[in-house]
Amino acid sequence: MIPQSFIQDLLGRVDIVDVIERHLPLKKGGANYFACCPFHGEKSASFSVSPTKQFYHCFGCGVHGNAIGFLMEYSGLSFVEATKELAGQVGLKIPEDTKGATPTLNQPSNDGLYAAMTAAAQFYREQLKKTPAAIEYLKKRGLTGEIAARFGIGYAPDDWQGLKTVFPDYDRKALVECGLIIENDQGRRYDRFRHRIMFPIQDRRGRIIGFGGRVLDGGEPKYLNSPETPLFEKGRELYGLTQAHKAIRDEASALIVEGYMDVVALAQYGIGNAVATLGTATNAHHVTTLMRLTDRVVFCFDGDAPGRKAAWRALEASLEALRDDVTLAFLFLPPEHDPDSFVREHGAQAFRDAATSARPLARFLLDELKAQVDLDTAEGRARLIHEARPLITRVGAPLLRLQLLKTTAEAGGISQSEIETAYGLTSNRPERTQDTWRKPQQRSSQPRPRGRTRAVTPVGILLRLVLDNPGLAARLPADLIEPSDAESLALIAIVDAMGIGDIEADCGVAALVERFRETPHATALSKVAGELVGTEFDESVVELLFEDTLRKLQADAINHEIVELTGRERDGGLTSAERHHLAHLILQKRQLGEPRKI
Ligand code: UTP
Ligand code: MN
Repeated sequence: MIPQSFIQDLLGRVDIVDVIERHLPLKKGGANYFACCPFHGEKSASFSVSPTKQFYHCFGCGVHGNAIGFLMEYSGLSFVEATKELAGQVGLKIPEDTKGATPTLNQPSNDGLYAAMTAAAQFYREQLKKTPAAIEYLKKRGLTGEIAARFGIGYAPDDWQGLKTVFPDYDRKALVECGLIIENDQGRRYDRFRHRIMFPIQDRRGRIIGFGGRVLDGGEPKYLNSPETPLFEKGRELYGLTQAHKAIRDEASALIVEGYMDVVALAQYGIGNAVATLGTATNAHHVTTLMRLTDRVVFCFDGDAPGRKAAWRALEASLEALRDDVTLAFLFLPPEHDPDSFVREHGAQAFRDAATSARPLARFLLDELKAQVDLDTAEGRARLIHEARPLITRVGAPLLRLQLLKTTAEAGGISQSEIETAYGLTSNRPERTQDTWRKPQQRSSQPRPRGRTRAVTPVGILLRLVLDNPGLAARLPADLIEPSDAESLALIAIVDAMGIGDIEADCGVAALVERFRETPHATALSKVAGELVGTEFDESVVELLFEDTLRKLQADAINHEIVELTGRERDGGLTSAERHHLAHLILQKRQLGEPRKI
């Protein structure tokens, strides 16, 4: 637990520009610094860093945060690790555990499990060196020692309790818990992996969380994998991501393949940007993970019937996650090949060419649907439109959805407006148009906050002003703010925190947002803070806007009360005290006058 006061102090000392510049080249443009966003692929620099606000924001994909948040996102660090790293950079020491510090969500109670996995991996690597048959097997599959080392490939010996040499305390519960050891009904323990080539599975931070073990001969099952453990959730992980990370960024594309050996063999041939799902179908989580790193994701499936089916499932799983600035494409290899065998037979360039000409998702979708119907008949065309509906309406990328609507309509022999009517999408529904422009492309080097979003409420304006200048919160009466939405609740929380001296008037937006990490207000606050990165308020405007908005809120509250009292006056009269109060309200209203226009 790290005391909040320390974190506030820390954020006061680090400069987010330095922190980010260690990882990304930043260019100055006006008051802010810019880079191509590391969290989504792009060619224009939409990622902006504000030295005054100590906050970053990408106008393309919307990521945002302070220096701690950047390290968590970019380097995959936990909150505590990111804090430690920053403290190290400015030479601060994290104070010892104090009571009343902020709780962090995942306390690292799994340290013992990670340590066990690391120790086991090392053991397997050593065993590989000592086992000619295993080395022979890898050689036969075309792997060099260098690539085997890069992926930490090892060998689990043909021994029921081989791991006993690593873990003298073989009875430890943790060993079963992390899936290395199995306990049978009689309570006897033995190694899960025996006489297998071992592929360590790492998480995004490079920690070993599981293994896949391949038999050397024709035994069954071909691959044995770690079970789901506190460290390892199959459906969320991608094999080889640690190794592929850099190549994915450099080549601006990622490949998803099916097997461990495919990843490793491609890397052997210099194609380093491949990752594999772990014997599970590709899901939205996999796709989203990769879309944060790059704007082109190519699914690579075997050309056989199961491969086609897997591709279709991957397509279905990706629809919601689609973005207009990302291309998903499908590469089908000849039926007799997987990526491993293909690259070995035809070489890297042939594989690269195939990946480049992979079929874009929209085309694959339509081709598959068309193949199922007879387009020469009215029934077939109607069927096409019918089958496409649940798919197209799920597409999360508004412009791509529009393209799909057009092409499907065309293929089905009807017009765009007819298909929209058939699907119950009337083209001028306001939220649709808004949706379409949710992510405006940033063209100028001086991005402005997004327009065309929902109008900002008076409370929203106050929240933005307070984030820009937290000291203003001290001048806000909390009871004036109606707790209605996330922004109003966040504003009330800030006013309260200021009231009890929990935050300083001069703390700045980054520290203010940090103060509310892991509270219900975190999302709303950091989102608004992100929006503000491109905005520099003129001081005189701030004051004017603040006063006017406050006055408007007061007027609203007074009006509300006046309406209520006059209503009751009509219905049955008021007590004399109430009538007195009403008169007072009317006077107050007159004094407040109309808010000025600025
Ligand atoms: P493949 O059978 O295509 O494996 O299964 P591969 O990687 O091409 O293996 P080689 O070339 O025969 O050595 C694809 C993936 O499905 C999972 C594994 O993750 C494997 O990499 N799988 C397959 C299992 O989990 N268990 C199995 O028995 C088979
Ligand atoms: Mn294979």
